[in-house]
Amino acid sequence: MKGNIGTPFFTGFPVDPALDWQMSRAEKYCLIDLMNHLKPEVAIEIGTYKGGSLQVIQHFSNEVYSIDISPAPKKFLEPKFPHVHFIVGEGDKLVHELFTRIDQEGKKLGFVLVDGDHTCAGVQRDLHAILSYPHKHPFVILLHDSFNPQCRKGISTIPYKNYPAVEYVELDYITGSFWHNDTYREMWGGLAMIRVNPGNQQPLHILASQGHLYRRAFWGSTHLIKDRLSFLGPWKKALYRMLGKPYRTDIYDEF
Ligand SMILES: C[S@@+](CC[C@H](N)C(=O)[O-])C[C@H]1O[C@@H](n2cnc3c(N)ncnc32)[C@H](O)[C@@H]1O
Repeated sequence: MKGNIGTPFFTGFPVDPALDWQMSRAEKYCLIDLMNHLKPEVAIEIGTYKGGSLQVIQHFSNEVYSIDISPAPKKFLEPKFPHVHFIVGEGDKLVHELFTRIDQEGKKLGFVLVDGDHTCAGVQRDLHAILSYPHKHPFVILLHDSFNPQCRKGISTIPYKNYPAVEYVELDYITGSFWHNDTYREMWGGLAMIRVNPGNQQPLHILASQGHLYRRAFWGSTHLIKDRLSFLGPWKKALYRMLGKPYRTDIYDEF
């Protein structure tokens, strides 16, 4: 089943195989169980894509806002999930407005999935936007692709001391993968978890429980060179063609 990574995947959750779900098997199990545990009143997803993760989030939440920069997810998924609020735009520019709306309606935000812009700056923008709001209730943030060096840097370089409500950060809540799906020595996947608790009094410890694995993989990865050449981005397609390599915009396939 091309596109639906992590198959075969056995679970009691009624997974729709028609919805491409861009997560590994471990990440899928985690999301299902975490959502079943949290059962949030309101959840927000940044990065809808083809609705894979959304099918789980909407199943366990009373209300969901799913944001994507592309209008395609709204167009294709609205008929399937009529109760989800699909929003087209950039996550970091939209979340404050949503938080305010949720507060004004007297509801509680319980969960945010960050899986949109995967650049270091993009992850930082999303996190700053989420953490800089004066939240009234505790909630959980999951960030996908925390094993990817750019995403990981985006998560780990946030000055958390400026956000005292952050009580827990674990970069490797679920470990990611190295060199899968023909991505030639690339690192992807992984889920980071951040717990926000406005009543937090404890000092924050930032955990990276698979830091050794991450560093081992990094020194054998193409990110060492590739990420430094990211300024060549606009010419990437032509470069791949010159080298006779297929240019893939979709880094995920089958785990
Ligand atoms: C990796 S996919 C999301 C996968 C999905 N969460 C899942 O598990 O199946 C990333 C999505 O984020 C969207 N995206 C990229 N940058 C964004 C941004 N700044 N704000 C919102 N969405 C963004 C892309 O259009 C794409 O659909």
